[in-house]
Amino acid sequence: MTAGTRSYLVTGGVGFIGSHLCQALLEGRDERITCNELVILDDFNDFYDPRIKEAHLKVLTETARSVGTPLHLYRVDIRDRAALEPIFERHAPGLRQGGIVHLAARAGVRPSLSEPALYLSTNVDGTFNLVDLARRHDIQKFVFASSSSVYGDNPDQVPFREDQDVNHPISPYAATKIMGENLLYSYVHLYQMQIVALRFFTVYGPGQRPDLAIHKFTRLISEGKTIPVFGDGSTRRDYTYIDDIIQGVLAAVHYDKTLFEVMNLGESQTTSLSELISHLEEAVGKKAIIDRQPLQPGDVPITYACIDKARNLLNYRPVVPVSQGIPRFVAWYKAHQNALSATL
Ligand SMILES: NC(=O)c1ccc[n+]([C@@H]2O[C@H](COP(=O)([O-])OP(=O)(O)OC[C@H]3O[C@@H](n4cnc5c(N)ncnc54)[C@H](O)[C@@H]3O)[C@@H](O)[C@H]2O)c1
Repeated sequence: MTAGTRSYLVTGGVGFIGSHLCQALLEGRDERITCNELVILDDFNDFYDPRIKEAHLKVLTETARSVGTPLHLYRVDIRDRAALEPIFERHAPGLRQGGIVHLAARAGVRPSLSEPALYLSTNVDGTFNLVDLARRHDIQKFVFASSSSVYGDNPDQVPFREDQDVNHPISPYAATKIMGENLLYSYVHLYQMQIVALRFFTVYGPGQRPDLAIHKFTRLISEGKTIPVFGDGSTRRDYTYIDDIIQGVLAAVHYDKTLFEVMNLGESQTTSLSELISHLEEAVGKKAIIDRQPLQPGDVPITYACIDKARNLLNYRPVVPVSQGIPRFVAWYKAHQNALSATL
């Protein structure tokens, strides 16, 4: 590594959002950010098929080679402090010029009900290891993936604003994200680190996690199978297209006006579950067969982001509404389904 190298560490870098972010960093999509060295840390766990993560890595390796940027991959668990130490030793000089984007986590509300201990250890202990090592190595810049789930069950308080009460999470997953934000704030207060916590609102697009509704429903509708629909279809979500999220994450990486901010990244538009299914039916070209089930504990009736803060501080401008994003996702799914079914 040469003096002045700017390195970026992306945890969870071969996951859905992480692989898009790494691709954007390698391509230099935000001209304000120069990435001379990319460091990816991921344990390739089997929350969903790890071959999807291997496929993301393959694409990233090819991009890194074509643009001539060194890519260092570490297959480690963020809970394993001893394994993280030498990585920080090695890359700290570059990371001091660049920074860390911490996306690795156990994601998803429903699975956090069956494995709360795993969610706690990964999302809280893991986040602690990373921010504490960053502090010890004098790495200032840290961007954290939080979640809209921190807003809990508050349909009368939409659109959700960053300054409203988030002390009543209704799932272990949501609790871990608010704990993460609070822990990071304490590090900013004590050590003047420069941290942005981004509350993502349901992210979708090419490469979306197969456990999430849009991907799962697309597969089941395409195969003529029934789709499980929880509730009467009136629950509403603020679905955010992946390119818009990446635009916001890159702007947060660049942001340096204040030491600590929490910001929503959403589309600031809501779509009911029934409307979502109609969009999917149209894009897939088939009717959905619905298996109606009761609402699930931990689910919230609505998520809806106020994005004024990100607009003002990050110049965040989401541009892909669901009416355009769903056909794009389904086009990706169709193009990849043969490859997917061949590998899975
Ligand atoms: N996708 C969404 O809609 C959404 C919404 C809100 C917040 N988020 C947050 O954004 C981040 C990325 O989400 P995603 O949808 O890309 O999920 P993902 O599961 O595709 O990506 C997470 C990555 O982290 C890795 N990882 C998990 N535990 C790890 C550990 N102990 N050590 C090392 N690596 C580990 C996984 O292998 C995976 O590649 C997560 O923090 C998630 O909580 C996502």
